[in-house]
Amino acid sequence: MNQITVSKKFEFSASHRYWRDDWSEQKNKEIFGRCISPYGHGHNYELHVTVKGPIDPQTGMIINLSTLKQLVNEIVVQFDHKFLNLDTPYFKNRIPTTENIALTLFDLIREKLAEVPKIRLYKIRLYERHDIYAEVWES
Ligand code: NI
Repeated sequence: MNQITVSKKFEFSASHRYWRDDWSEQKNKEIFGRCISPYGHGHNYELHVTVKGPIDPQTGMIINLSTLKQLVNEIVVQFDHKFLNLDTPYFKNRIPTTENIALTLFDLIREKLAEVPKIRLYKIRLYERHDIYAEVWES
């Protein structure tokens, strides 16, 4: 049987800092380079959310995209215009790299979409910039 997904793009802006307290300043600088700046630096992130499920024969849709927009925005708003290290509870013990932000978003969005019958979160793709992205998908 053919497989079908539907995807929607979201955007948010956030800042972050890469730093490990258990490393010397020199080692932090060696590994993380300019990203150790104490006041952080920002990115315009682009988030692609892909949902899987059966097409409702009455609507022709997997999910109503306004529902998807509303539910995902409830998560994205927690990240938008935030200094991820300090303004969110998610990066106290892990560095807010693109990979870790994507993992965090996947878990939060998956939990949020559990409210919608029949569909599930299939994949997310998070762009930090146009040429760098991380992906997380269901396993
Ligand atoms: Ni950065």
